[in-house]
Amino acid sequence: ASLELGPYSHFMQKEIHEQPRALTDSIEAVIDSNGFDVELFGDEAAGTFRDIDSILILAAGTSYYAGLTAKYWLESIAGLPTSVEIASEYRYRVSVPNPRQLIVTISQSGETLDTMEALKHAKSLGQTQTLSICNVQESAIPRASKLVFYTRAGAEIGVASTKAFTTQLVALFILTATLAKQRGVLSQAQEHEMLEALRQIPASVQHALNLEPQIREWAKAFANKQHALFLGRGIHYPIALEGALKLKEISYIHAEAYPAGELKHGPLALVDENMPVVVIAPNDALLEKVKSNMQEVRARGGQVYVFADLDSHFGESEGVHVIRTPRHVGLLSPILHSIPVQLLAYHTALLKGTDVDKPRNLAKSVTVE
Ligand code: G6P
Repeated sequence: ASLELGPYSHFMQKEIHEQPRALTDSIEAVIDSNGFDVELFGDEAAGTFRDIDSILILAAGTSYYAGLTAKYWLESIAGLPTSVEIASEYRYRVSVPNPRQLIVTISQSGETLDTMEALKHAKSLGQTQTLSICNVQESAIPRASKLVFYTRAGAEIGVASTKAFTTQLVALFILTATLAKQRGVLSQAQEHEMLEALRQIPASVQHALNLEPQIREWAKAFANKQHALFLGRGIHYPIALEGALKLKEISYIHAEAYPAGELKHGPLALVDENMPVVVIAPNDALLEKVKSNMQEVRARGGQVYVFADLDSHFGESEGVHVIRTPRHVGLLSPILHSIPVQLLAYHTALLKGTDVDKPRNLAKSVTVE
């Protein structure tokens, strides 16, 4: 294993650091063709995409959070009503089928039983427009789908998903642009902007990886805690969810994520000096709102740990710790902000001495119910 690991201590750390490469590989076809070509999703994509009126995303775990993130892009850029549902819930629920809805399954392994069964359930209801976003070639879920888009993260060994997640996000971003273009709602300027965002993302992620020494310092404040709270708003709320999941999975610290505006409707009651609060606060339309949510935490003695990009103009103050992520990268900001929460979970787990790559009770791919 040491040979495979190279300079890294764990597969998870290696996979976190492989993200610039994994992203470059996953966007290669788009960059090469210099545009969002519908063929990227398979021969039948043009016909399929033309007929759809909405999207239903089905997935589990981290892949579900990729879906939650994509909803913001799909509705705001492609104008397509999008629902995101946990596969194990959808498959057992009476829902209203819509044959014009595109079913998008997201799965790193392509073998997750619940996601596979949710896909079969959708098909049994007459929902035949199906697309799989998957990292493993020729696995069960893509084989059962009409359209396929493969992420090119390479083999992911660590149970806690990292590079598969960020490559799923670029795949979903490419899907958004492709659908918007086909529907005639993507201006040339927007297409150019989205292509540029993709071109820049590997380098921006590399900058975020360089924050590792600072994050390692922060981990010391988390390793001896029982609970942590993650806050985000808008498209960064799913990244807060993913950050909390990563911390739970590998450090066994109880972590929850909330959309920051919900703080006052419950979780604020939990906040004291023993519950660190991680805030994802990029410079976007919701920044001022996030800042006032942070004040609510500070007023209760909570320690705030903020990931803020350079343009957010955050200063450190009593109880407010700030790590500056690179300049705001626009639409792909959720990808950039995934990196520091992955690193925080990793270094906290390292301090706690848990089995980072194989956390207790969890499996890489869950092929049973
Ligand atoms: C397991 C893994 C998670 C993963 C989830 C979904 O719970 O531990 O890391 O996100 O399955 O897996 P999939 O392969 O369908 O993306």
